[in-house]
Amino acid sequence: MKVLVSRPFPGPAVDFLRERGYELTVLDDGRAQGVFKEKLAETDGVIAMLSDSLPATTLASCRNLKAIANYAVGYNNIDLQACTSAGIVVTNTPDVLTDATADIAMLLMLMVMRRAPEAMRFLADGKFTGWKPEFLLGRDLKSKTLGILGMGRIGKAVARRAESFGMKILYHTRSRAKADLPWPRVSFDGLLSESDVLSLHLPLTDSTRHLIGAVQLGKMKEGAVLVNTSRGPIVDEGALVEALRSEHLFGAGLDVFEEEPKVNPRLWQLPNVVLLPHIGSGTLETRSEMGTTAATSLHEALLGKHASNTVNPEVYSSEVWQSRQT
Ligand code: GLV
Ligand code: GLV
Repeated sequence: MKVLVSRPFPGPAVDFLRERGYELTVLDDGRAQGVFKEKLAETDGVIAMLSDSLPATTLASCRNLKAIANYAVGYNNIDLQACTSAGIVVTNTPDVLTDATADIAMLLMLMVMRRAPEAMRFLADGKFTGWKPEFLLGRDLKSKTLGILGMGRIGKAVARRAESFGMKILYHTRSRAKADLPWPRVSFDGLLSESDVLSLHLPLTDSTRHLIGAVQLGKMKEGAVLVNTSRGPIVDEGALVEALRSEHLFGAGLDVFEEEPKVNPRLWQLPNVVLLPHIGSGTLETRSEMGTTAATSLHEALLGKHASNTVNPEVYSSEVWQSRQT
């Protein structure tokens, strides 16, 4: 069977697949536009990236495609429903990237609260003339309230980290309170109005797009901080720029953008904004484990098994999938 790997990544996963007899194509980062789609049309399985858009129209031309292992925990780049109807198994890479992503949320939070971008710029501009008690005063994390929107694996990992910094934790989820958590679940409005730092940890879906817009930002505390390591379009970036310009917010830390890889140029003009190029899971160890997780799931799916980390388990009762097993 043919397996397509959309981009090179570290670790042993590609060798793992090669050793199992797959005919592999690993595209490089410099491939021409359209090459991915062309190769996809003739492959049985693919390791895809969050930057690979897989809408129904593209999937319709993939006659042999049986499985997509998305090299990410988020899978908003894929039309899941179209995959399920076509009998295509979709998997993701949860767990292995939880800690790396939670670390980036803490990094952003600390950098914004301590005004690291202004401080670094100040020093680089040669303006540092000596230690002064009132110079570049940031804010403590200790005793502040961290509001976590979306309390899945990453949200919990951020809560545990923040607690060790002395923060008080609140959270909101669409679903009911989780019985096993020591922190209080509050309403969405309660989270907005009580948090000193609001950190987003939910998937991008039709119902979370622009969930944080002008109205919600307006409900946030004067001097609060927004941290986003999930997906850019959850925040209305234009509204965020206004909330920062008017100094309603103290700052923001963003690892993701509304029109990634484009960054709203107005964000660059703001003093206390930390911008990172979607590196939440970007450590050598984590990216390697993501590869292993993706390759393992893909192999299971191509063997006709119920693959680990399947995000559309309904596919296994579809006629297309079942007819393939006989
Ligand atoms: C990264 O953004 C991921 O979804 O894994
Ligand atoms: C700071 O550098 C201090 O010594 O308090």
